[in-house]
Amino acid sequence: MVNMGERNPKIEHWPEEAITENEDRLLREVLSTCYQGPDDWMFPTRRYWQEPPQHRWWMRGPTGAIISQIAVHDKVIGSPIGDLRIGGVGLVCTHPDHRRKGYVRLLLTEALQWMKQQGMSFSLLFAAVDAYSSSGYIPINNPFHQFDFRTRQWVTKLMPKAMAAPLAGIPWPEGEIDLRGMEF
Ligand SMILES: CC(C)(COP(=O)(O)OP(=O)(O)OC[C@H]1O[C@@H](n2cnc3c(N)ncnc32)[C@H](O)[C@@H]1OP(=O)(O)O)[C@@H](O)C(=O)NCCC(=O)NCCS
Repeated sequence: MVNMGERNPKIEHWPEEAITENEDRLLREVLSTCYQGPDDWMFPTRRYWQEPPQHRWWMRGPTGAIISQIAVHDKVIGSPIGDLRIGGVGLVCTHPDHRRKGYVRLLLTEALQWMKQQGMSFSLLFAAVDAYSSSGYIPINNPFHQFDFRTRQWVTKLMPKAMAAPLAGIPWPEGEIDLRGMEF
């Protein structure tokens, strides 16, 4: 549901290299509030999960704190139809006091528009909850060749939470995908 009646906070797009000490702290605060699972030990001290993204979109609350954010990995992956430039979405989070106001959907709208302008063919993500169907993501069931951060080995496995959004009119390919790195 998109927020009605209230004015939505302004969306900011930040390339990762522009992030200052202040924004780094604000990101760690919101990420460590939203992510508290066993694989999320890093967020109090580090603003990314396995690999740093290249871009962020976020909104701030009245005090300047970051209240909702998404990150995008600008990646080339291998597929049976050739290499594909994708926008890998991760670190999706909204502070518990600001959820269900459509903020993630608004951030995704901006980021997907930017990905299209960059000429990316798909956006890809691994969803812990399905907050993405309304933004055009559909579940996919390819095997993914990837570096498993838990076992520190290259593996090929199905990713039941994988979803893709087509951005260039090409249908998502069937068959093995080479992530050329880790899950994001
Ligand atoms: C999941 C999360 C990011 C949603 O943020 P949000 O700003 O509240 O999301 P939005 O209000 O923009 O909702 C977007 C869509 O997702 C749905 N949605 C939101 N939270 C959901 C949840 N927990 N379970 C299922 N669907 C959810 C909304 O109904 C909405 O659907 P619609 O567009 O069809 O109406 C937020 O709850 C969060 O930070 N959770 C903890 C971290 C996490 O799990 N991140 C996601 C990892 S994939």
